[in-house]
Amino acid sequence: MRLSAAISFSLLLVPAVVQAAPAEPPVGQIVKLWVRPSGDAERKYVQVDLSVKPKIEVTREDIQYPGEKLKYRGVYLRSLLEAMERNGRSDLVLLHFANGMAVPLPIDDLEVLKTIDPFVATELQVNNLWISAFPMVIKQGAEGRDVRPLKFGRNKVVVATKAHPHTAKAAQADGFSPFFYCDSLIGIEFVRSAEWYKQFDLARTDGEKAGFAVFKSHCQFCHSVREVGGRYGIDFFKPNPVVERIGVQGLYLHVRYRDRDAPEKGQMMPFFKDVTKDDVTALHAWLTLVTGARPVPYVVP
Ligand code: HEC
Repeated sequence: MRLSAAISFSLLLVPAVVQAAPAEPPVGQIVKLWVRPSGDAERKYVQVDLSVKPKIEVTREDIQYPGEKLKYRGVYLRSLLEAMERNGRSDLVLLHFANGMAVPLPIDDLEVLKTIDPFVATELQVNNLWISAFPMVIKQGAEGRDVRPLKFGRNKVVVATKAHPHTAKAAQADGFSPFFYCDSLIGIEFVRSAEWYKQFDLARTDGEKAGFAVFKSHCQFCHSVREVGGRYGIDFFKPNPVVERIGVQGLYLHVRYRDRDAPEKGQMMPFFKDVTKDDVTALHAWLTLVTGARPVPYVVP
């Protein structure tokens, strides 16, 4: 083939083969909602595009930007919940974030909803200008050095209180809130609370029951067991059960204190001053049980 013919031949081919890939919307622009199906049934998603939702303006405190109240534009989480037909069966939502945090929120408890009342902000006012690039949250004591700070996509959830119905009062008083570690909201999963927690609740002895309570109040937001729970930290079962490589003492030290060089290492796990040796002994017993037993499937009768 002569050169010119080769070129025109290839020109003919090019437009047919090159196709623009459909652009993915930026993280946090779309929030997916679904009711967790019972057993193996298929998930059906409803998508909410925050960029086309009518916005309201609020002035609010936010635990991630402590100090002054700021002006935000966005939507209340409770108004997003209305996009989902839930047949009156779900009483809990699991708020899923881009970084793997999973925060449960009871939706039938109006008192709790009113107290926490998360606001899904898409814009923030800075110096009288509306911006959609939310400032990063740098881990305290690790300014500039943290390898895993919180970066936001197109939304951030604004919560003013450290109160949460599942966390321990002592941990709250010490400043712990799962919302502190959340980046952008990407999913809202509707579940039945009793059946959801049944997946973890194999405990028979008082010790095991106490251990499950520690998991529920302190760990579930970030950690999972067999991928049920948060994905921010490790799974306690996969690739190998955590109790096979960490004893009670090791777990206690890990939960209660952090490494001196944790900021340099970019470790994001908070430490809990309110967790006692007895709590960790119970937690270890529960972890041994739950990672050794067969998983309990999520089934709604
Ligand atoms: C805010 C999120 C968060 C919470 C809450 C949390 N963790 Fe973690 N955890 C992490 C992250 C992230 C890691 C990975 C290491 C790191 O970045 O610190 C981790 C690591 C771990 C490890 C692995 C240590 C190793 O050597 O591999 C264990 C064990 C652990 N967490 C146990 C717990 C227990 C038990 C609780 C509850 C009492 C808990 N975590 C609560 C985020 C969390």
